[in-house]
Amino acid sequence: MNKICKKKKTFIIHTAALILIFSLWLLSGCQSSMEDIESSEPVTAPAQQIDIEDSAESASDSEENSVVEEDDITDNSESIVIETPPVPSVEEDIPSLAETYIDYFPMGAAIEPFQTTGLKADLLKKHVNWLVAENVMKPDAIQPSEGNFNWENADQIVEFARKNGMEVRFHTLVWHSQIGDWFFKDSEGKPMVDETDPVKREANKTLLLERLDEHVRTVVGRYKDDIISWDVVNEVIEPGDPDGMRASEWYQITGTDFIETAFRAAREAGGPGIKLYINDYGTDNPVKRDRLYELVKVLLEKGVPIDGVGHQTHIDIHGPTVTSIIDSMQKFSELGLDNLVTELDMSIYSWNDRSDFSDDIPEVVLQKQAERYQELFEAFKEHKDILSGVVFWGIADNHTWLHSFPVNRTNAPLLFDQNLNVKSAFWAVVDPSKLPQN
Ligand code: GLA
Repeated sequence: MNKICKKKKTFIIHTAALILIFSLWLLSGCQSSMEDIESSEPVTAPAQQIDIEDSAESASDSEENSVVEEDDITDNSESIVIETPPVPSVEEDIPSLAETYIDYFPMGAAIEPFQTTGLKADLLKKHVNWLVAENVMKPDAIQPSEGNFNWENADQIVEFARKNGMEVRFHTLVWHSQIGDWFFKDSEGKPMVDETDPVKREANKTLLLERLDEHVRTVVGRYKDDIISWDVVNEVIEPGDPDGMRASEWYQITGTDFIETAFRAAREAGGPGIKLYINDYGTDNPVKRDRLYELVKVLLEKGVPIDGVGHQTHIDIHGPTVTSIIDSMQKFSELGLDNLVTELDMSIYSWNDRSDFSDDIPEVVLQKQAERYQELFEAFKEHKDILSGVVFWGIADNHTWLHSFPVNRTNAPLLFDQNLNVKSAFWAVVDPSKLPQN
């Protein structure tokens, strides 16, 4: 009996010891598992930053978009609930605008240098084969003060075009706007337009034309091997001013001699291979068109080397008629001149309207825009013999001068929307069978 009790006692002690050892082992195992979890990398969701105005810039670098802030790492629960708005992207599975028109004429867009990187650049590379500087080749940008030429921004656009097999057209050698005041100051620093002494007025005219000649020869000399198509003078006609000529400082000081000087200097500096244009808006208006026609006719008779007319074509969804646009081209082609559409966009408001759709542009308005674009490009294609290129004033609705002209408001004048995606207007121009009503 004692022996049996002793055996039982030994068994209980061994079992208790085993349970104790097992418990200790379990405890230490759990402890080390917990330590593993606590020391592991936290799981975090990528945080994306979208800049609405320049969405392409911010979205251009996927690494930048997945940067995780330190604050996110310290609190896992917060970092995984961050909302990630969709990254705007260039649509790949759609036709290229420029390739669609390859048998007709080049398709271009006006751009700023910052658009040569990121998604905006991708959009340009896919859809256009012509570029124009929206601002950086204007006189004040190229020669802000006498003798100081600033090439950096203009070069950036020329370089981007060269790398991507695109052409550039130059805008603009002469304009009354966006030009340094220094051009129009006499040798004593006084405004030339105020001069009343006929002898001094003549000296001022000579000085101004010399400055112009120097500007044109320097700029054309630099880019003549890169750029074929040039806007030489911009917006010199104004039917409301005396003689129908814009009463700019250019005109008040030199008459029409500034136009002649600019074209002749451009031809001499660039040679016979470059194409020289006189550019203006509202050329569909018969009064303005006819005054421009008269001017060009007289200049051509004097041997001024003008190759063509640039029709800016800032139009809206209500007007002008497509017929009036084509009629104007036809009229200039009778003088043996080429035609270009140089600054095309289509406001969603009529000329006198100052209202603002804000973020809520009615679908019917965008439909109307598409219909107008379709009609316009059908006419352009039909008249490709008298039209040798079309340039949009911008590429997508996130960047257009019409957001601030004539008032600050939302506008949507182009073929791509604020997120660089196609609008009905794109399909109207590229493949109308894709439009909802067809
Ligand atoms: C005119 C000029 C362009 C541009 C637009 C508005 O059409 O020719 O250079 O300035 O106005 O942006």
